[in-house]
Amino acid sequence: MSDHKPKNTTGTKAPKAYGWMAEYPDEHKLLEAARKVRDSGYTDTDAFTPFPVHGIDEALGIKPTVLPFIVLCCGFTGLCLAVTMQYWMNGVDYMYIISGKPMGITPASVPVSFEMTILFSAFSTFLGMIALNKLPRFSNPVFTNPRFDRATDDKFFLYVSASDKYYNRDSVKELLGGTSPDVLDEVVEDGSPAELPKFVWLGALLVVLTGLIPLMIVLNIRESFSEKPRFHVFLDMDFQPKKKADQQTTVFADGRTMRPQVAGTVGRGQLEEQDAFYLGYDPNDLAATVKMTPTRLVSLQDGAAQPPADAPATQPPAATDSAAAPATAPTANATQPPAAAPMPAAEAPEKPWLTELPIEANEANMKLGELKFQIYCSACHGYAGNGDGLVHKRADALAQGTWLPPTSFHIDRVKAQSVGKIFNTISKGQGKMAGYANALTPKERWAIVLYVRALQRSRDAKLDDIPVDKRSSLEEAGSK
Ligand code: HEC
Repeated sequence: MSDHKPKNTTGTKAPKAYGWMAEYPDEHKLLEAARKVRDSGYTDTDAFTPFPVHGIDEALGIKPTVLPFIVLCCGFTGLCLAVTMQYWMNGVDYMYIISGKPMGITPASVPVSFEMTILFSAFSTFLGMIALNKLPRFSNPVFTNPRFDRATDDKFFLYVSASDKYYNRDSVKELLGGTSPDVLDEVVEDGSPAELPKFVWLGALLVVLTGLIPLMIVLNIRESFSEKPRFHVFLDMDFQPKKKADQQTTVFADGRTMRPQVAGTVGRGQLEEQDAFYLGYDPNDLAATVKMTPTRLVSLQDGAAQPPADAPATQPPAATDSAAAPATAPTANATQPPAAAPMPAAEAPEKPWLTELPIEANEANMKLGELKFQIYCSACHGYAGNGDGLVHKRADALAQGTWLPPTSFHIDRVKAQSVGKIFNTISKGQGKMAGYANALTPKERWAIVLYVRALQRSRDAKLDDIPVDKRSSLEEAGSK
């Protein structure tokens, strides 16, 4: 479509001719007429039909649109921009190792590059279509013809614009007349404004400016300080009367809001804290072997640091303590964060670690242990437990000097560890290694211990370990 703005009639109301409009009863006649007009050399033409007509582009001589090329260029620009941006961010400006991936462009950059390509293409399609069609447009002179309404209903229109460079009023009339249209009308200006009135622009400006006011208020509030609490649109339960754990209260005689556990009760989840299956040691043994006050016992169970030279003489007599022990110990356990700083191995008195596996050493458990070991441990410790897993190899290759190699299971120190100790390493982590209690159930952890034991044993196996009837097959294999 082209622009039909009157050039010198902005002030005057003299009717101006915009071209000729021919009306046809069906698309065949329209196509025929369009071809005729095209062959006569007119290019500033247009057709209006109630439904899409095949071949009308070709009949009107409309060239294929350049939009696809614009979109291709913009999409490519988006791709280049995304690649450059990501390379610059991670490869130049902020070099940061993420999971040992190389710096700069990686497969992880593909989604962003893809999205940026799509984003730029989509916007260029939308905006390019609008621009190429010279939109938005306030009015078109063809609308001044009252018959034109039927273009969306049942009639077909062919329009030759007066702005065509070969336009001649009489010859166009003759040409269109020769195509036997139902009606042939000259399109003339009817005095309706061709441009948006000023007040519409002013109104739009006002709306935009008004729309900025809430934003300004929010910005102002964010940037200023106030003694009052934040403005709450919905109160929810923000201002309910309540006591927080560390606050005082008059409700209880001792003034404490947080209540100690009632003597003789077991809290949710606390059963597990008292069971060797979950701890790797028997808490009762701990109490028996380490003669200590309840608080000391609690801190030991949590692995919190406390010098072992804690003189028992300074503590209250044991008799009163033992009564209070069941009540206070679990409470403290429950409120302490699980990741309380572990005590350095040298200072912590060793716990009475289990020396026997609490699960059966059968094939099912061994298979379970193998599976879970390969999923959770082999990445660092390697499939054979040598401490040479893929993560270790990669970190070693990067040679940044901060990597602590995973411990081999075949060194004497680890071989000498009891099963409970290894269970504890898996559950709570050890040194630089994180704990896996949140990923593995206690049974799975014990199964891994079983598998680790099997790995260790596989290095030291003696011929006597092998059942007599299986030895011959081993010797056969060895002789091959
Ligand atoms: C992310 C790498 C990584 C993974 C995964 C990992 N470990 Fe470790 N592991 C280490 C490192 C590093 C050390 C040495 C820690 C230290 O001494 O600070 C270690 C140490 C150990 C030790 C020796 C502890 C001691 O007393 O010195 C054992 C046993 C162990 N890991 C078992 C396991 C088991 C079983 C799994 C699977 C559930 C596992 N690890 C998963 C990195 C890992």
